[in-house]
Amino acid sequence: MKYLSHTLSAICLALMTSPAAAESTFDKVKIEAGEKLYNSECRKCHAPDSSDPSYGPPLENVVGRGAGTIQDYDYSTSLEASGIVWTPAALRAWMEDNAGFMPGTKMRHVGIEDRTVQDFILAYLGSITTQDNTKVSE
Ligand code: HEC
Repeated sequence: MKYLSHTLSAICLALMTSPAAAESTFDKVKIEAGEKLYNSECRKCHAPDSSDPSYGPPLENVVGRGAGTIQDYDYSTSLEASGIVWTPAALRAWMEDNAGFMPGTKMRHVGIEDRTVQDFILAYLGSITTQDNTKVSE
Protein backbone atom coordinates (compact mmCIF):
# COMPACT_ATOMS: atom_id res chain seq x y z
CA MET A 1 0.00 0.00 0.00
CA LYS A 2 2.80 2.31 0.90
CA TYR A 3 4.47 1.42 -2.37
CA LEU A 4 1.24 2.09 -4.29
CA SER A 5 0.69 5.53 -2.80
CA HIS A 6 4.30 6.32 -3.49
CA THR A 7 3.86 5.30 -7.12
CA LEU A 8 0.65 7.31 -7.39
CA SER A 9 2.26 10.44 -6.03
CA ALA A 10 5.13 9.97 -8.45
CA ILE A 11 2.62 9.76 -11.30
CA CYS A 12 0.76 12.84 -10.06
CA LEU A 13 3.99 14.73 -9.81
CA ALA A 14 4.94 13.69 -13.32
CA LEU A 15 1.58 14.87 -14.64
CA MET A 16 1.81 18.13 -12.76
CA THR A 17 5.31 18.93 -13.84
CA SER A 18 4.75 18.16 -17.52
CA PRO A 19 1.58 19.93 -18.66
CA ALA A 20 2.25 19.07 -22.30
CA ALA A 21 2.28 15.34 -21.60
CA ALA A 22 -0.84 15.61 -19.44
CA GLU A 23 -2.62 17.49 -22.20
CA SER A 24 -1.78 14.92 -24.81
CA THR A 25 -3.07 12.17 -22.52
CA PHE A 26 -6.37 14.04 -22.28
CA ASP A 27 -6.47 14.45 -26.04
CA LYS A 28 -5.77 10.77 -26.56
CA VAL A 29 -8.54 9.76 -24.19
CA LYS A 30 -10.98 12.17 -25.87
CA ILE A 31 -10.13 10.83 -29.31
CA GLU A 32 -10.57 7.22 -28.15
CA ALA A 33 -13.91 8.01 -26.52
CA GLY A 34 -14.89 9.98 -29.62
CA GLU A 35 -14.07 7.05 -31.87
CA LYS A 36 -16.35 4.77 -29.83
CA LEU A 37 -19.17 7.32 -29.96
CA TYR A 38 -18.59 7.85 -33.66
CA ASN A 39 -18.76 4.09 -34.23
CA SER A 40 -22.08 3.87 -32.45
CA GLU A 41 -23.70 7.12 -33.69
CA CYS A 42 -22.23 7.95 -37.08
CA ARG A 43 -20.26 5.03 -38.52
CA LYS A 44 -23.23 3.14 -39.93
CA CYS A 45 -23.65 5.97 -42.47
CA HIS A 46 -20.21 7.59 -42.56
CA ALA A 47 -16.92 5.93 -43.40
CA PRO A 48 -14.02 7.76 -41.78
CA ASP A 49 -12.05 7.10 -44.94
CA SER A 50 -13.10 8.13 -48.45
CA SER A 51 -11.82 4.90 -50.01
CA ASP A 52 -14.54 3.06 -48.12
CA PRO A 53 -18.02 3.49 -49.64
CA SER A 54 -20.77 4.60 -47.27
CA TYR A 55 -24.35 5.89 -47.45
CA GLY A 56 -23.35 9.33 -46.18
CA PRO A 57 -20.33 11.33 -47.35
CA PRO A 58 -16.96 10.26 -45.87
CA LEU A 59 -15.92 12.39 -42.90
CA GLU A 60 -12.15 12.28 -43.18
CA ASN A 61 -10.77 15.84 -43.30
CA VAL A 62 -14.20 17.24 -42.44
CA VAL A 63 -13.07 19.86 -39.92
CA GLY A 64 -12.70 23.12 -41.84
CA ARG A 65 -14.00 21.58 -45.07
CA GLY A 66 -16.62 23.30 -47.22
CA ALA A 67 -20.02 21.58 -46.87
CA GLY A 68 -21.09 19.42 -49.78
CA THR A 69 -17.67 19.27 -51.41
CA ILE A 70 -17.00 15.53 -51.73
CA GLN A 71 -16.85 14.92 -55.49
CA ASP A 72 -19.32 12.33 -56.73
CA TYR A 73 -21.40 12.31 -53.55
CA ASP A 74 -25.08 12.93 -54.24
CA TYR A 75 -25.86 15.63 -51.65
CA SER A 76 -29.25 17.18 -51.03
CA THR A 77 -29.68 20.56 -52.71
CA SER A 78 -29.86 22.27 -49.29
CA LEU A 79 -26.51 20.95 -48.18
CA GLU A 80 -24.81 21.50 -51.50
CA ALA A 81 -26.07 25.09 -51.80
CA SER A 82 -25.50 26.00 -48.14
CA GLY A 83 -22.04 27.50 -48.70
CA ILE A 84 -21.11 26.80 -45.07
CA VAL A 85 -17.82 25.52 -43.72
CA TRP A 86 -17.65 22.69 -41.19
CA THR A 87 -16.14 24.62 -38.31
CA PRO A 88 -16.32 23.00 -34.86
CA ALA A 89 -19.30 25.27 -34.06
CA ALA A 90 -21.14 24.23 -37.23
CA LEU A 91 -20.42 20.57 -36.49
CA ARG A 92 -21.84 20.98 -32.97
CA ALA A 93 -25.02 22.62 -34.32
CA TRP A 94 -25.28 19.82 -36.87
CA MET A 95 -24.90 17.04 -34.29
CA GLU A 96 -27.39 18.75 -32.03
CA ASP A 97 -30.15 19.26 -34.58
CA ASN A 98 -29.07 18.76 -38.17
CA ALA A 99 -32.57 19.07 -39.62
CA GLY A 100 -33.23 22.30 -37.70
CA PHE A 101 -29.81 23.68 -38.61
CA MET A 102 -30.29 22.89 -42.28
CA PRO A 103 -33.88 22.22 -43.33
CA GLY A 104 -34.03 19.95 -46.36
CA THR A 105 -30.96 17.87 -45.51
CA LYS A 106 -31.32 14.19 -46.19
CA MET A 107 -29.38 13.17 -43.10
CA ARG A 108 -31.70 11.63 -40.55
CA HIS A 109 -31.99 13.64 -37.33
CA VAL A 110 -29.26 12.67 -34.85
CA GLY A 111 -29.89 14.96 -31.86
CA ILE A 112 -26.73 14.77 -29.77
CA GLU A 113 -27.27 17.55 -27.23
CA ASP A 114 -24.68 16.56 -24.65
CA ARG A 115 -21.72 18.94 -25.10
CA THR A 116 -19.26 16.42 -23.71
CA VAL A 117 -20.35 13.84 -26.25
CA GLN A 118 -20.05 16.51 -28.96
CA ASP A 119 -16.54 17.34 -27.68
CA PHE A 120 -15.44 13.73 -27.92
CA ILE A 121 -16.82 13.27 -31.42
CA LEU A 122 -15.20 16.57 -32.46
CA ALA A 123 -11.86 15.40 -31.03
CA TYR A 124 -12.16 12.23 -33.11
CA LEU A 125 -13.17 14.14 -36.27
CA GLY A 126 -10.14 16.40 -35.67
CA SER A 127 -7.92 13.32 -35.47
CA ILE A 128 -9.08 12.09 -38.89
CA THR A 129 -8.56 15.57 -40.37
CA THR A 130 -5.03 15.49 -41.65
CA GLN A 131 -5.15 18.02 -44.46
CA ASP A 132 -4.84 21.74 -43.88
CA ASN A 133 -8.32 23.23 -44.34
CA THR A 134 -7.51 26.67 -42.96
CA LYS A 135 -7.88 28.34 -46.36
CA VAL A 136 -11.50 27.13 -46.59
CA SER A 137 -12.38 28.03 -43.02
CA GLU A 138 -11.04 31.61 -43.25
C1 HEC B 1 -28.69 7.42 -40.90
C2 HEC B 1 -27.48 7.81 -41.55
C3 HEC B 1 -26.63 8.89 -40.92
C4 HEC B 1 -26.18 8.98 -39.62
C5 HEC B 1 -26.46 8.03 -38.46
C6 HEC B 1 -25.32 10.14 -39.56
N1 HEC B 1 -25.26 10.75 -40.79
FE1 HEC B 1 -24.24 12.46 -41.27
N2 HEC B 1 -24.99 12.41 -43.16
C7 HEC B 1 -25.85 11.43 -43.66
C8 HEC B 1 -26.25 11.79 -45.00
C9 HEC B 1 -27.20 10.99 -45.91
C10 HEC B 1 -25.61 13.03 -45.30
C11 HEC B 1 -25.78 13.89 -46.56
C12 HEC B 1 -26.86 14.92 -46.21
C13 HEC B 1 -27.32 15.79 -47.35
O1 HEC B 1 -26.84 15.68 -48.49
O2 HEC B 1 -28.24 16.60 -47.07
C14 HEC B 1 -24.83 13.37 -44.12
C15 HEC B 1 -24.01 14.50 -44.02
C16 HEC B 1 -23.17 14.77 -42.96
C17 HEC B 1 -22.21 15.87 -42.92
C18 HEC B 1 -21.91 16.83 -44.06
C19 HEC B 1 -20.65 16.36 -44.80
C20 HEC B 1 -20.27 17.13 -46.03
O3 HEC B 1 -19.51 16.55 -46.85
O4 HEC B 1 -20.68 18.28 -46.20
C21 HEC B 1 -21.61 15.82 -41.71
C22 HEC B 1 -20.53 16.76 -41.18
C23 HEC B 1 -22.19 14.71 -40.97
N3 HEC B 1 -23.14 14.10 -41.76
C24 HEC B 1 -21.82 14.34 -39.69
C25 HEC B 1 -22.41 13.29 -38.98
C26 HEC B 1 -22.02 12.94 -37.63
C27 HEC B 1 -20.92 13.62 -36.83
C28 HEC B 1 -22.82 11.87 -37.27
C29 HEC B 1 -22.86 11.17 -35.93
C30 HEC B 1 -23.06 12.00 -34.78
C31 HEC B 1 -23.69 11.58 -38.39
N4 HEC B 1 -23.41 12.45 -39.42
C32 HEC B 1 -24.64 10.56 -38.41
C33 HEC B 1 -26.25 10.29 -43.01
C34 HEC B 1 -26.04 10.02 -41.66
